[in-house]
Amino acid sequence: MTASRQTIGLVLAAGKGTRLKSDLPKVLHNLLGKPLLVRVIEALLPLQLKEIVVVVGHQAEAVETALADYARQVGWKTPLRFLLQQPQLGTGHAVMQLNNVLAKDEAVDVLITCGDMPLIPTQRYETLMSAYHNHTESMLAVATVQYADPTGYGRVFFDDHDYVHRIVEHKDANAVEQQQTWCNTGIYLGSWPTLSKTLEQLGDDNAQREYYLTDVVALMYKAGKPVQAVRWPDEEDVLGINSRLQLSQATSILSRRTAERLMEEGVSINQPDSSTFAPEVQVGPDTLIHPGCVLEGPVVVGQQCEIGPSTTMRGAITIHDHCRIVTAHLEKQVEVASHTYVGPYAHLRDNASIGPTCRIGNFVEVKEAVIGARSNAAHLCYLGDVDVGDDVNMGAGSIVANYDPVRDIKTRSTIETGVKVGCNSVLISPVTLHQDSSVAAGSVITDDVGSGELAIARCRQSTIEGWVGKAKNTTKTTASGKPKQPAS
Ligand code: UD1
Ligand code: CA
Repeated sequence: MTASRQTIGLVLAAGKGTRLKSDLPKVLHNLLGKPLLVRVIEALLPLQLKEIVVVVGHQAEAVETALADYARQVGWKTPLRFLLQQPQLGTGHAVMQLNNVLAKDEAVDVLITCGDMPLIPTQRYETLMSAYHNHTESMLAVATVQYADPTGYGRVFFDDHDYVHRIVEHKDANAVEQQQTWCNTGIYLGSWPTLSKTLEQLGDDNAQREYYLTDVVALMYKAGKPVQAVRWPDEEDVLGINSRLQLSQATSILSRRTAERLMEEGVSINQPDSSTFAPEVQVGPDTLIHPGCVLEGPVVVGQQCEIGPSTTMRGAITIHDHCRIVTAHLEKQVEVASHTYVGPYAHLRDNASIGPTCRIGNFVEVKEAVIGARSNAAHLCYLGDVDVGDDVNMGAGSIVANYDPVRDIKTRSTIETGVKVGCNSVLISPVTLHQDSSVAAGSVITDDVGSGELAIARCRQSTIEGWVGKAKNTTKTTASGKPKQPAS
């Protein structure tokens, strides 16, 4: 056997996941922004496998569609194939499905893993592969881990030469066998011709009446084909997701690992356990992250920024150097150029691009908008579907009314460089405020404003003299004519 021999990845994902009590198939449950199965497959991608075959069963169509869509979107290079296992008669039966696409004597190796183990790093698979390839006689290598609490796992038993001679499932193990703490991770690498022949001999004479893949080990051992054990150091890596509790544990582990990486890279994080960080997140050195943040997706934060407290960034979010993003919610495609201050309580979403040295302040929402340099919307603004130039000032409470509810359409406005919009103005889109124009406070703007012009679109103030004297002797009455009751 040579290292150059090709390897096929086989991901077992046909099981039901009853304990999650969910309509969603188990392997599509979200782990920090990506489905479990995507996380599993992404760890396999760097291994340069010939192809990755996913065995699907429960809600096969949903799993297949979700994965195929994802693979297409991000452009996975390794070919992806799905095999239907119907009904699901056990892990051995799941691997037998490969017979539908491989000849029995096809000279490939098969790396078998589980679709519900999203925490295994690529490096673990690499140690399994190199151990297997360095051992010329080995026909199968099993990754084993020592569990503090081995309940539920298959126990691995070794002979005097440290080969695995059998694996006994928890439900089939006697009291003595249950003492063994070395367990089967369910991850294997083996020679397909040997594996496929051995699978033919599998029976289902066990507690669960299933075709156990684990029984292959004893069958091979008896046939004089050594089965290697590759000991993995960390049981955390092979946490399987079978329950909501395990899903939350996996989330914490992945987030903590990411926080540790970020801190090593020079990021300060106050109370890292109070925030969640997806592994995709990148943050520059000397940035400070306050408690209560959620950073999920391809989030990129520059150097010397201050993020949080209580800030969510979800999606393709790019924050350049020296920004402050305080108690804000950023989602789906947001870019903030350097030295800009966002928040507190700002909402940036759906293609919002903010220029450098801007101020996007309290209760300001920005979507489908491009904002130039040094522009301010410091209080209570809505900037939707609008192009804003440099040095623009949006007064408090100014709104771009982008939605026409009668025609059910959204239209776009333009606010050119140097424009000043007075407080509480409404710009009825589509409208253009040309360079250096101004809008008086409280205006409702329906027509374009020319360069350098001032638009006032509101009633003139009228003042009624002696008003208090006139109003004083009038008793407040309700519509029915009875005096109004004091509020209770
Ligand atoms: C399996 C191993 C056990 C090991 C444990 C590690 C067997 C018999 N036992 O047990 O030794 O310690 O994993 O987590 O292999 N699946 C299918 N089709 C099926 C059955 C299962 O695709 O017909 C998939 C599941 O979706 C899952 C994986 O195979 O991803 C493991 O199946 P599961 O039922 O969880 O096996 P365990 O009982 O945990
Ligand atoms: Ca399991």
